[in-house]
Amino acid sequence: MPSITINGVRAEFTPGQTILQAANAVGAAIPQYCYHEGLSIVASCRICLAEVWAPSAKTGVVEPYMGGKLLPTCQTTASEGMVVYSDGPKSVANQKAVMEYLLINHPLDCPVCDQSGECFLQDYSYQYGRSVSRFEEQKVKQPKKDLGPHVYLYSDRCIMCTRCVRFTREVTGTAELFVQGRGNKEEIDVFPGIALDNELSGNVVDLCPVGALLDKDFLFTERVWFLRETPGIDPLTASGDNIEIHHNEGRIHRVKPRTNMAVNRWWITDEVRYGWKFVHSEARLRSPSRRQYGTRVSCEFERAYDDAVAGVAAAVGAGKRLLLVVSPMLTCEEAWLLGRMAKAMDAGALLAVGPVPTVGEDRTFPPGDPAGFKAYAEKAPNARGVRRVLSALGEVIDFDAAVGAMGRDGGRGEVGAIILTGNYPSEWGTAALERALGGAFTVLIDTLESGLCERVDVVLPGASFAEKAGTFENARGMLQAFEQAIPVIEMAKTEGQIALDLMSVLEGRPDPVRDAAAVVVQTTVGQVAAGAQVTLARGRVFNAADVRGEMARAKEALGVMATGVTTPAPLARQVAEMEMVEL
Ligand code: SF4
Ligand code: FES
Repeated sequence: MPSITINGVRAEFTPGQTILQAANAVGAAIPQYCYHEGLSIVASCRICLAEVWAPSAKTGVVEPYMGGKLLPTCQTTASEGMVVYSDGPKSVANQKAVMEYLLINHPLDCPVCDQSGECFLQDYSYQYGRSVSRFEEQKVKQPKKDLGPHVYLYSDRCIMCTRCVRFTREVTGTAELFVQGRGNKEEIDVFPGIALDNELSGNVVDLCPVGALLDKDFLFTERVWFLRETPGIDPLTASGDNIEIHHNEGRIHRVKPRTNMAVNRWWITDEVRYGWKFVHSEARLRSPSRRQYGTRVSCEFERAYDDAVAGVAAAVGAGKRLLLVVSPMLTCEEAWLLGRMAKAMDAGALLAVGPVPTVGEDRTFPPGDPAGFKAYAEKAPNARGVRRVLSALGEVIDFDAAVGAMGRDGGRGEVGAIILTGNYPSEWGTAALERALGGAFTVLIDTLESGLCERVDVVLPGASFAEKAGTFENARGMLQAFEQAIPVIEMAKTEGQIALDLMSVLEGRPDPVRDAAAVVVQTTVGQVAAGAQVTLARGRVFNAADVRGEMARAKEALGVMATGVTTPAPLARQVAEMEMVEL
């Protein structure tokens, strides 16, 4: 493979790659603003300029390339034997000049800027800029603009890299943004009467290297250095788009794309970016409940579990069947445990996949480009995974057939007990489902309060996608695992844990709720207060990785759960370059 040398570091490249691409691949530090892998190259910011030397075609002796002038590494194609210096005196002088120029009109509002802490201008000012400003004139003041439903523009802070403009032209094909004006009056704008309102609009905020484009949803909500990032998978559609969940103290603050060239590349839809709000909804189910003399009353998990197991057992004892409906919003691991639980309650249990909502049609960006970014009409992340897992346990029927089986003869048919799972981001019960309920004993495991809760015998509060680990299979058949970002809200449990608990109750084993062992913790500095009581579960605790192994061992058809699941690489954490001072 051909190679070049960048600041003394050898970097291999594939023919056609630029010097900057080769540098980025080996982590050689060359500053860059306007370059982005997913966009065309304009070489306008000039911060990546470097000294380039190359072997002479005649003599083979390394000599200054293109007459020795500084070259934009983002635009200069790498060739065998090149020697590049972005840390030489000429390059460093250019970096300082570019930084000084960019900061002439840039406001000093880092303390109130959302981008502070993840701003390229801030980082490069520290690494490549001057420590003092020589500018004594009045800074040009630019307006703040409301560009669309999700994005504000603080023009003052813009460095005119045009990443956002190129995104709307090259990726979404909507071209809402453009550059208007010239010189220091240049600014990004939308065309009159046309808002930045496309399905991918939030990506311009990620693309903006400074705090000029801001997410209305995240504006002033949290300083970025308090956020923790957890790798996730699109929990709302069949895309399998890779995401990062940014959270602090049990609350999600934003969702960003995680680069995966085989799935979503660098982008996500606004639907995925802003669709997490139901996780913190006031309507979350926060307590199990049971029907008592026709009225729904809150209860402890133990009582709800006993009712659920007794109700199913009574129906099965009377010669009826149990129907388990597993939502396509749940993980493969949960489908497995729920399916095993249903088969343990009734060996002849019917298994069904819950409703798979679709809205409109699949769309590609730019429109008509089959190789472009795809947004999916299917609004469930794991219909294929749930079907794959349940199929290994027996025949699987679809939701319409399940509703038909529930309602048969007003409940006098073969189905005597139903376990329904939901976990949709909004109310999901259909009129047909509500009509079908009432005849058979029904347990509902769901996350949001809905009309269904009033129609069933037992309600168990489940956990949202962010409160659990697991695996989703996307529309392309890719199995991708994700991690738990935040703790499960109080008095709710993951569906996998509920299935394990119910199996424990069924088998008469100690379950984690009733037979928890209290342990008194001695003083451990920085851990739990001295003398605090910690409750340890003695029953089996849900662990997604263990369940994947169990599935693969139990069923040959599920061997792929051990060998074919992509697990997320650990996210790189930025290390502070300055010393932390304890106050
Ligand atoms: S708003 Fe941000 S992304 Fe757009 S040109 Fe300005 S600095 Fe670049
Ligand atoms: S990154 Fe090369 S000129 Fe902007």
